[in-house]
Amino acid sequence: MPTALVTGASAGLGACFARALAAEGSDVVLVARDTARLLTTKVALEERFGIQAEVLSADLGTDAGGAAVAARLASADAPIDTLINNAGIGLYQQFLEAPLADEERMLDLNVRAVLRLSHAAAEAMLARGGGLIVNVSSVAGFLPRGAVATYSASKAWVTMFSEALAVQYAGTDLHVTSICPGFTHTEFHQRADADMSGVPKWMWLEADEVVRDGLADARKGKAISVPNAKYKVLVGASRAIPRPLLRKVMGRGGL
Ligand SMILES: NC(=O)c1ccc[n+]([C@@H]2O[C@H](COP(=O)([O-])OP(=O)(O)OC[C@H]3O[C@@H](n4cnc5c(N)ncnc54)[C@H](OP(=O)(O)O)[C@@H]3O)[C@@H](O)[C@H]2O)c1
Repeated sequence: MPTALVTGASAGLGACFARALAAEGSDVVLVARDTARLLTTKVALEERFGIQAEVLSADLGTDAGGAAVAARLASADAPIDTLINNAGIGLYQQFLEAPLADEERMLDLNVRAVLRLSHAAAEAMLARGGGLIVNVSSVAGFLPRGAVATYSASKAWVTMFSEALAVQYAGTDLHVTSICPGFTHTEFHQRADADMSGVPKWMWLEADEVVRDGLADARKGKAISVPNAKYKVLVGASRAIPRPLLRKVMGRGGL
């Protein structure tokens, strides 16, 4: 039975990834901090899809949490075929308004944990012949978003890191994909206490479609997946126009 490990599986996109993989018949390892929510998800997935779900409570912003999940990825007795590095947080404050500790906490989760878990997974997967690593990034990683500078930079790192790994392991059975969603209905903005009232309705995606499109792209071996046609056009345009013009369009303190 294939087994996938999903971080941030207690809510939002992570819960959708876990459900989609379980629906395909994969066992799942559910990682997040909220043990009660993970246990509820475990029971629901096992009952509905007849798979085995394992709960691994860990704070991936800490060394101990990262080490526990890395150790699970390294296990030879219960191997993981697919890693979904999905857990992430945002910080919707101008650079000097946010406490530096909060910026660092975001980098620990959005960057350091992704690095550490990718390292553990790649090593174990290559030793067994292959596997799939999916890193959830963001459209924000393509854009200099003034209001969320560190978040955008953290996601630029995730996208470039994943693309570079895809280049490095091309021709092997280790596949790496970065999924870059646009605004998606989850708990993400609420947790960041962000006022999203200015974002037009048409820009919002549903978590299920992001996961469906992203997993389909990953299975096709795409290094970068931008779910939804509207966002494909937006990202394509942002890459095609001159950078000084893009900076003007984004505007100071823009979304
Ligand atoms: N929603 C969007 O508009 C959007 C757009 C582009 C990209 N993304 C990216 O999508 C990913 C998933 O976000 P989402 O929208 O699904 O957000 P969400 O609904 O807030 O879910 C975030 C998940 O991450 C977990 N998490 C948070 N801090 C953690 C920590 N320190 N250690 C372990 N797990 C932690 C949360 O669980 P616990 O609280 O139980 O730990 C939760 O399961 C993120 O990487 C985000 O940057 C989101």
